[in-house]
Amino acid sequence: MHKDNQALIFELTREGRIGYSLPELDVPELDLSSLLPKGIVREEVAELPEVSELDIMRHYTALSNRNHGIDSGFYPLGSCTMKYNPKINESVARYPGFANIHPLQDESTVQGALEVMYDLQEHLVEITGMDEVTLQPAAGAHGEWTALMMIRAFHEANGDFNRTKVLVPDSAHGTNPASATVAGFDTVTVKSGEDGLVDLEDLKKHVGEDTAALMLTNPNTLGLFEEEILEMAAIVHGAGGKLYYDGANLNAVMSKARPGDMGFDAVHLNLHKTFTGPHGGGGPGSGPVGVKKDLIPFLPKPVLVKKEDVYTFEYDLPQSIGRVKPFYGNFGIYLRAYTYIRSMGPDGLKAVTEYAVLNANYMMRRLEPYFDLPYNRHCKHEFVLSGRRQKKLGVRTLDMAKRLLDFGYHPPTIYFPLNVEEGMMIEPTETESKETLDAFCDALIQIAQEVEENPEIVQNAPHTTVINRLDETKAARQPVLRYIKG
Ligand SMILES: Cc1ncc(COP(=O)(O)O)c(C=O)c1O
Repeated sequence: MHKDNQALIFELTREGRIGYSLPELDVPELDLSSLLPKGIVREEVAELPEVSELDIMRHYTALSNRNHGIDSGFYPLGSCTMKYNPKINESVARYPGFANIHPLQDESTVQGALEVMYDLQEHLVEITGMDEVTLQPAAGAHGEWTALMMIRAFHEANGDFNRTKVLVPDSAHGTNPASATVAGFDTVTVKSGEDGLVDLEDLKKHVGEDTAALMLTNPNTLGLFEEEILEMAAIVHGAGGKLYYDGANLNAVMSKARPGDMGFDAVHLNLHKTFTGPHGGGGPGSGPVGVKKDLIPFLPKPVLVKKEDVYTFEYDLPQSIGRVKPFYGNFGIYLRAYTYIRSMGPDGLKAVTEYAVLNANYMMRRLEPYFDLPYNRHCKHEFVLSGRRQKKLGVRTLDMAKRLLDFGYHPPTIYFPLNVEEGMMIEPTETESKETLDAFCDALIQIAQEVEENPEIVQNAPHTTVINRLDETKAARQPVLRYIKG
């Protein structure tokens, strides 16, 4: 049997085989049926696999090998920033003084942890150019929602109850209109021009006395930097609205440009992307929000402050939108982001941005002759190709993504953003070597040639994985999540 197709653990069961050894019982055996309520005591022995320690070890190792992770191969998933998670972050997050504390401990006993949180806030203030930061939100979308609730509270505190609309460009990340809707606003779509950037004339048409805010994803979902930001800021502020910056992909501009200097009132960051927290099933996220002075009174409470060298949480904040996360947020991710920022330093963070952008532009230009490039301009940290040339030959972008699995790569994001036909959104990140970038480009170029010469090999891919193609709808709607014997 191929090692990847190893039998499932229930099939390896042999009666009486065990993978543990316990010492002899040296206390009286308890009769559970007399201790537990009737009806919940199991009458038959649980049907668990009976296997040796070696079998169980091989079983889980084989399962883990079926996963593709950033530690096992290139992962150019556009928009999701699957960036290397430095291992020093993990050792810091496991320091017993951090890992073993409890959120209900008295503040006086966790001053070190609070200092890390406070310093992280200060670093993020500096990196974003904002006046204050809250670490509470647990993800990027949660940060968007939190900021919009603050913006709503700000307008209402000014007696401005008619600002019900949030303007969202069609090139925004999908969570932007979703967060605005969940925050109770109506969303209005602002069109992009032929260059892929926000059309200022269309923005002017929609802006007015009912505008609560404009949410701008920058770089936008095409990986393009919005060049007319100062004009946009003047238009929206001129109408009394606030400017929100989706900074999930700050790795495209970090240490080069700051949302605060561009006139934005609020920004969220994804610590689990730009700041190397593991994500995508690898751990909880963190979506801190930075705000300018006007919005500070509305920050979620409690707010962490430093009073004469003592760190403490302040609760008495009458205009706060309230707590948005139980306890103090995802502390383990703060530790990783803090370690990353401190180990990189200001010059290191600048280099991150430069390499992220250089790598993306290098790949875009290498692949340009083989695929359509709908927005042919200098990109930031990611770029979007179109598979429409290959579609005419009967091969879809989905097929090419599946074929990439045969080369050992995680495919890029596909069919996103929606404004690119057969889109393929590639984000290499800054840490990959030129050899890795070249090898991935070579694979995609070979696939483009296969589409012309031997399309079946692409249409029927993958050929080397444990299973071929899933019925993705069925897998999502009727997942089989447990092993049923027999
Ligand atoms: C530009 C942008 N905004 C917002 C988000 C949402 O972040 P999260 O998935 O943490 O909610 C993402 C996620 O990848 C993103 O790329």
